[in-house]
Amino acid sequence: MTSRPETSEYGSVDPAPPSDIEQLSQLRTILLDENEKMFQRMRSVFKLRNIRSPESCLVLCEGFASSSALLRHELAYVLGQMQMDEALPTLTRILSNHEEHVMVRHEAAEALGAIGNPDAIEVLETYLNDEHVEVSESCEVALDLLNWVSNSTIA
Ligand SMILES: [Fe+2]
Repeated sequence: MTSRPETSEYGSVDPAPPSDIEQLSQLRTILLDENEKMFQRMRSVFKLRNIRSPESCLVLCEGFASSSALLRHELAYVLGQMQMDEALPTLTRILSNHEEHVMVRHEAAEALGAIGNPDAIEVLETYLNDEHVEVSESCEVALDLLNWVSNSTIA
């Protein structure tokens, strides 16, 4: 039988398996090391996601200092999976930054919907008519998701 990558505890098949390292400081060092291989940096990302503490969430937020748009896109994706309010200020900043890569802004918008906190509505409405259709459509989907979630809780 062929071996395939494992499914994570979030139900996703991730581009890299979680690191075996447990210490936040070590995971942070690898994540922020621009000379480290992308595979190892992503292994840190998925480990920090799986730890899912306010501290590990904030280490992931620090990762947006990376020069790799691919890594920043991945960070936004996992912050959506984690659904922690600690990530809201960073994701808001990323979505609002017009210098940021459009696919990173798109993923930040979707993450703001996935977290499920209505505090994200204001920034999502601000970029609902963004010049980049990837961003505007993501804001629309995120707002519909937040709306759908709040309606299904009431019903
Ligand atoms: Fe994406």
